[in-house]
Amino acid sequence: MDKNKISIIILAAGKGSRMKSPKAKVLHAISGKPMLYYIIKSSRQISDDISVVIAHQKEVVRKEIENYFDDINYIIQDTNKFPGTGGAMKNVTPKNEKVLILNGDMPLITSDSLNVFLNTDAKVIMSIFNLKNPNGYGRVVIKNKEVQKIVEQKDASVDELNITTVNAGVYAFSKDIIDKYIPKLTNDNAQNEYYLTDIISLARKDKVSISPLLVDEENFKGVNSKEDLSDAEEIMQKRIKSTIMKNGVIMQLPSTIYIEESVTFEGECIIENGCRLTGNTLINNSHIKSGSVIEDSIVKNSDIGPLAHLRPASYVENSHIGNFVEVKKSSLKGVKAGHLSYIGDAQVEDGTNIGAGVITCNYDGIKKYKTIIGKNVFVGSDTQLIAPVTIEDDVIIAAGTTLTSDVIKKGSLAISRTKVKTIKDFYYKFFNIKK
Ligand code: UD1
Ligand code: MG
Repeated sequence: MDKNKISIIILAAGKGSRMKSPKAKVLHAISGKPMLYYIIKSSRQISDDISVVIAHQKEVVRKEIENYFDDINYIIQDTNKFPGTGGAMKNVTPKNEKVLILNGDMPLITSDSLNVFLNTDAKVIMSIFNLKNPNGYGRVVIKNKEVQKIVEQKDASVDELNITTVNAGVYAFSKDIIDKYIPKLTNDNAQNEYYLTDIISLARKDKVSISPLLVDEENFKGVNSKEDLSDAEEIMQKRIKSTIMKNGVIMQLPSTIYIEESVTFEGECIIENGCRLTGNTLINNSHIKSGSVIEDSIVKNSDIGPLAHLRPASYVENSHIGNFVEVKKSSLKGVKAGHLSYIGDAQVEDGTNIGAGVITCNYDGIKKYKTIIGKNVFVGSDTQLIAPVTIEDDVIIAAGTTLTSDVIKKGSLAISRTKVKTIKDFYYKFFNIKK
């Protein structure tokens, strides 16, 4: 199929009241990206002419899309005068003879499932699937294998409500159908909206043949509520993890792991149960143990966790990061940090050991400061490194030290201690116990 032969219109102007959210519905995230991103991504694979209809929070929606795509046309819907999915088409003048219209709340749509609409020359193609529980969808009235009309749930009679064949929300129309019928839509219905779906009954009255295209429910799932959002998330996660495993990553209990679309893997990686990997994270030949969270970070040839947290801009290479260690905006190369530490705004070099309970005190309440630790340094347990601070190579920092100045001499020991006082029989006196 020639990518220039079809115009795609994505309807994204609605309020999405059923989401009960201040955020525009189409911007709600699935696997780290707005729903609309996935719809545009699949559409881009079959067309170069994509328009998105916007109105509600139009500037926010547009800005968000522009983070990912720079060649989208934007059409503004007048939702006061012409509310509804039909109203959304009022200002659309398609470039091509064939026009595909998609709802903006179908994040699971794939380019393969859209391709099917292009393989026929019919003037009107609409998609359907069958559901045990059709709640929320428009019901499709079919007689003699021809679609007669689509009835929205709020307008349906008791008999129509029992119909289990529903409108999937993707349509292919020839341009002349759009030009002829969009102006004829009315808002004479329960919601006082202009329904795009009324094109079907209007065209039918003029004897236009409308055969339904049976599509796969999963790919066409519409997201109207937060429960729908979580259902779609589950399916998307399955897809993402299945691709990752096919490419060679080992996952223990994948259903407990969350991985965003943007995360990449190289080499042999193991991800244990309960991990969460987000943003622009790259994992290369590493083992991520149970319950670890990694955000916008690079991990190479290392083992992380269990229960470790790498926050944005961490770079960890040839290192061991153990349980309850938090790393933020730091570079660790050849480092061991086995237990209970906070390493923030730091640079730690090869062969260095960070003992249990070591903390980089990187923030004075106003600004953040850097900690720089050289090679083969032994940082004893419970050390506080008051940044900005620099430690040379081959240095020992004694356990419990509060380091307030740089250690500039290679090979030295830094130690801060308060003398321990022992008071005889204090315990018995304090608790009034007879010895
Ligand atoms: C719509 C269909 C329904 C179908 C279902 C499939 C209509 C009237 N109904 O219902 O038959 O079964 O999708 O998922 O079309 N939008 C605008 N402008 C508006 C209103 C909505 O652009 O004024 C956009 C929304 O942002 C959304 C899409 O159109 O992306 C669909 O709107 P939504 O309210 O979700 O329609 P449904 O009730 O799901
Ligand atoms: Mg919907």
